[in-house]
Amino acid sequence: MSVLIAYFSATGTTAAAAKRIASLTGGRLFKIEPKVPYTAADLDWTDTNSRSTLEMKNPDHPVAIASLPDLEGVDLLLVGFPIWWYREPAIINSFMKELNANGIKAACFATSGGSGISRAQEGLEKRFSSLNWKPGLRISSAETDEQLRQWLDTVNA
Ligand SMILES: Cc1cc2nc3c(=O)[nH]c(=O)nc-3n(C[C@H](O)[C@H](O)[C@H](O)COP(=O)(O)O)c2cc1C
Repeated sequence: MSVLIAYFSATGTTAAAAKRIASLTGGRLFKIEPKVPYTAADLDWTDTNSRSTLEMKNPDHPVAIASLPDLEGVDLLLVGFPIWWYREPAIINSFMKELNANGIKAACFATSGGSGISRAQEGLEKRFSSLNWKPGLRISSAETDEQLRQWLDTVNA
């Protein structure tokens, strides 16, 4: 089973979760990066005109991606991101569109200040319906390795 863990992380929290998943699965990590990096000002959700606020007004807002991973031989794609405005950041939809990963098994995981993953998961399942989506997981720092393993078992089932 070849696992690709593709994640976007603006401030490092999702990157840490992705690394935990990589060590549990032996999967390959891929960092999703925008061509133009986000600055602290871009991430200010209290600013109605910040880049992130403007991007998140339209879930299909195109965000240029720096590079794409090699999907050759991948059996399971795990997509990780921070929750932005209760759902997946626009960069994730741009990434998935460009990746064009038809038919393979996939699941999402996210970190957040408290919001759940269900809206993000529904959005991804709707937009990228050719993938075989399994249940996603919001990962908090309290999640134990055992809980992560249980989730990975349901994804692999
Ligand atoms: C633009 C923006 C919007 C956010 N919106 C939410 C939200 O709707 N709900 C929530 O619980 N956290 C929200 N957060 C907090 C992040 O989801 C949380 O800090 C996350 O763990 C950051 O992950 P990262 O360090 O990998 O970027 C938001 C953060 C940013 C920058």
